[in-house]
Amino acid sequence: MNHNEWVAVLDFGSQYAQLIARRVRELNVFSEILPCNIGADELSARAPKGIVLSGGPASVYAEDSPKCDPKIFELGIPMLGLCYGMQIGCTHLGCRVSPAQAREFGRREIRVVEPEPLFGGLGEEITVWMSHGDQVQDTAHDLITLASTPTCPHAAVRHKSVPFYGLQFHPEVTHTPQGVKIIGNFLKKVCGCRGEWTMASFIERAVERIRAQVGTGKVICGLSGGVDSSVVACLLHKAIGDQLECVFVNNGLLRKGEFEQVVRDFGDNYHMRLHTVDASQRFLGALKGVTEPERKRKIIGGLFIDVFKEEADKIQDAHFLAQGTIYPDVIESSSPVGGPSATIKSHHNVGGLPEKLGFKLVEPMRELFKDEVRRLGEELGMKHEQVWRHPFPGPGLAIRCLGEVDEAKLAILREADAILIEELRAADWYDKVGQAFAVILPVKTVGVMGDERTYEQVIALRVVETTDFMTADFARLPYDLLGKVASRIINEVRGANRVVYDISTKPPSTICWE
Ligand code: XMP
Repeated sequence: MNHNEWVAVLDFGSQYAQLIARRVRELNVFSEILPCNIGADELSARAPKGIVLSGGPASVYAEDSPKCDPKIFELGIPMLGLCYGMQIGCTHLGCRVSPAQAREFGRREIRVVEPEPLFGGLGEEITVWMSHGDQVQDTAHDLITLASTPTCPHAAVRHKSVPFYGLQFHPEVTHTPQGVKIIGNFLKKVCGCRGEWTMASFIERAVERIRAQVGTGKVICGLSGGVDSSVVACLLHKAIGDQLECVFVNNGLLRKGEFEQVVRDFGDNYHMRLHTVDASQRFLGALKGVTEPERKRKIIGGLFIDVFKEEADKIQDAHFLAQGTIYPDVIESSSPVGGPSATIKSHHNVGGLPEKLGFKLVEPMRELFKDEVRRLGEELGMKHEQVWRHPFPGPGLAIRCLGEVDEAKLAILREADAILIEELRAADWYDKVGQAFAVILPVKTVGVMGDERTYEQVIALRVVETTDFMTADFARLPYDLLGKVASRIINEVRGANRVVYDISTKPPSTICWE
């Protein structure tokens, strides 16, 4: 197994940088996105097998356009420039780039004029996705045109001596149906990658790195019950066993049975060293009288830091903190606006925690996407329900209990939510939707039960389909299923006499109600 085989994706502000990185990994070659202005020495020291230069919205001839270190063209590492990346490379190699006569957006057929390993097995006409206003106007002496369209004479190029390929189109998008093959050809035929990267090899490498980083030191990991912190804890446990000390805070805002479940899973089943803290009363006390959602978040976040710190202080010799930071938390800011001086910033799940506590961070999943984290969890042997859980926000039920949070409302909410989840699982809907939960509204409505008039709380059900949580649509659950959930909630949960289903989309609504 070759653990060192990886490809760098330099990001020039492209909306597709993540997609490129993911395509490379789908071809079993590890990839990492780096800011476009990374120094050639730093890159060379990390010895990637190939470098992909991403697209980007700027024009290469604009004064403040993002640039890369010109020395990377001297490293002898195969490079593939896509769209802006092609233009950057071609400019550096002596070509002229200027606005195209006709901007090209959408499907085009390119004609391969020079058979090349890059287009091996693809035929002479290839359907591709174009999205550009600028293009390479003439090729310099040593650049060979490999493919063209009637309006884009240099749709693909190669340099004679520098191992640089440029594509004016986007092989990473599905609208280029054979794009994966082109990227695969680059990886295997040009870069010489063997394509042996798998989740198992990721684990092996991560374990080695974690051990090297922490030595014999102890690592604290805050469990939340969510997917990312659970997977990072299992990965750490595999690497360092009892050097890992997990802390789980019961903030009184967890779902039904959640505290007990975490203790069973991580303490009893996985045999991790688990420190549990019941701080429910402190959290509920601090939330008394608070109705404004952002205030709730601030109070909960601040108190979490205090409680966590108190518990961490009791653990001797712990200088490391494991965080389940994943790629979407790592905001790439090497945008054209930020220019070459921009750096990658990290947004931690628990805001401000590491800086305040002065720990060294262990973040072994920083480069992974969410679905890769789930695959990692499965590879580590975690339970299906743990790995495929819906996200649960840090402020927990506090932001699903609209208005003031109190124990009575939380009790109703917990029961209603448990029924919803149980029925979704029973009907095989849980894994098909992105997030599902109950919300308790701060109003009472009139109902009739038997001969009695009731005046009780309203429960709203929120079930959404989403992949990125930036946009969402309400799930078209069968009416019978909705009816069953509503009927069970009204019959089984004391204090609720009405159930409504939220059919708003995001945007303009959000997924959470607060
Ligand atoms: P919205 O409501 O913004 O939610 O559409 C998008 C996703 O983010 C989660 N969410 C949070 N997660 N702390 C978190 O850890 C928060 O304060 C928070 N607010 C929303 C929400 O559950 C959904 O998955």
